[in-house]
Amino acid sequence: MKTKAAVLFETHKPFEIVELELDGPGPGEVLIKYVAAGLCHSDLHLTDGDLPPRFPIVGGHEGSGIIEEVGPGVTKVKPGDHVVCSFIPNCGTCRYCATGRQNLCDMGATILEGSMPDGSFRFHSGKQDFGAMCMLGTFAERATISQHSVVKVDDWLPLETAVLVGCGVPSGWGTAVYAGGVRAGDTVVIYGIGGLGINAVQGAVSAGAKYVVVVDPVAMKREAALKFGATHAFADAATAAEKVNELTWGQGADQALILVGTVDEEVVQNATAVIGKGGTVVITGLADPAKLTVHISGTDLTLNQKTIKGSLFGSANPQYDIVRLLRLYDAGQLKLDELITTKYTLEQVNEGYQDLRDGKNLRGVIVHQQ
Ligand SMILES: NC(=O)c1ccc[n+]([C@@H]2O[C@H](COP(=O)([O-])OP(=O)(O)OC[C@H]3O[C@@H](n4cnc5c(N)ncnc54)[C@H](O)[C@@H]3O)[C@@H](O)[C@H]2O)c1
Ligand SMILES: [Zn+2]
Ligand SMILES: [Zn+2]
Repeated sequence: MKTKAAVLFETHKPFEIVELELDGPGPGEVLIKYVAAGLCHSDLHLTDGDLPPRFPIVGGHEGSGIIEEVGPGVTKVKPGDHVVCSFIPNCGTCRYCATGRQNLCDMGATILEGSMPDGSFRFHSGKQDFGAMCMLGTFAERATISQHSVVKVDDWLPLETAVLVGCGVPSGWGTAVYAGGVRAGDTVVIYGIGGLGINAVQGAVSAGAKYVVVVDPVAMKREAALKFGATHAFADAATAAEKVNELTWGQGADQALILVGTVDEEVVQNATAVIGKGGTVVITGLADPAKLTVHISGTDLTLNQKTIKGSLFGSANPQYDIVRLLRLYDAGQLKLDELITTKYTLEQVNEGYQDLRDGKNLRGVIVHQQ
């Protein structure tokens, strides 16, 4: 069959809308009609050359949709099921899935290659194979993906909103709750209030943090963070650090969470300096993997017993946490509707990413018109 998709052919070039051939589902695969796709900063790293994928690649890794067809042996979902995609598959049986770390599933090894685990592709044009970002390619109207890449969700939930729980919400919320281990009474500093950072605010607040101090140069982001429960918001890290020093009588923050668009050594140093003894820095934001972004004193870590760690997918278990977060939304305990600043058509994908660069969006969402 044919499908329309937004494709990147090389770095520093916008998405192009093209029509591709799509294979039907093979064993263990499903055909999904995407309803919505979130505009996460990670796709921008592909464009900017920070995370060069195999080209050409269909963009998009935050997605929700409806299963249209299933291949042989699929037991997890059936046609008509509503699903949210997991940007790392969860096979359930690899070493990491079996030990409660589905975010590290071995099946995710080809997410930037954009192929299926066996190296084959489902999108084509003539003789050329097209990859799918994170084995999903949610900037397409339809895709053929692994059953392990979808999580069935309650069908009364709006998929245009539930889509956010495919990446930004768990990655941000889990950075605070799981990776940061925020507990009641903690003081948390959050750098970067985008689609992820705003959910780190929600996570820290729900975990009972006493102070949630955010840093973002964009005024709209700071105002949004305060509406989502942050207690203080600053445009720069130095002023935030002064306030944290005052709020904690010089003891420093318990957690510093880094969710800026592109991580650099300055933000890592600021985060490491703002935490106190026994504190934790979590690096969730990405940068060019070849760049060394962590330049800090090992002795500071030792003498103050500080921890610096990375976090993927909010250190969450997508099969459980996608459903869990949606149930919190359903119960009125997690904001999702308020996260969406603007909705776009697939053809407006470059406009959506320009708005992200211009600091206009908490999260932009493509709603597929079909
Ligand atoms: N680890 C993971 O599992 C995972 C998952 C998804 C996205 N990411 C990465 O997380 C990062 C954030 O993604 P997003 O979609 O929220 O991006 P975004 O562009 O929506 O938000 C980034 C925010 O950081 C702010 N910012 C930039 N530099 C800053 C600085 N020095 N100090 C404070 N704030 C600063 C920007 O103003 C913006 O509000 C990206 O690098 C993305 O690729 C990681
Ligand atoms: Zn993402
Ligand atoms: Zn696995």
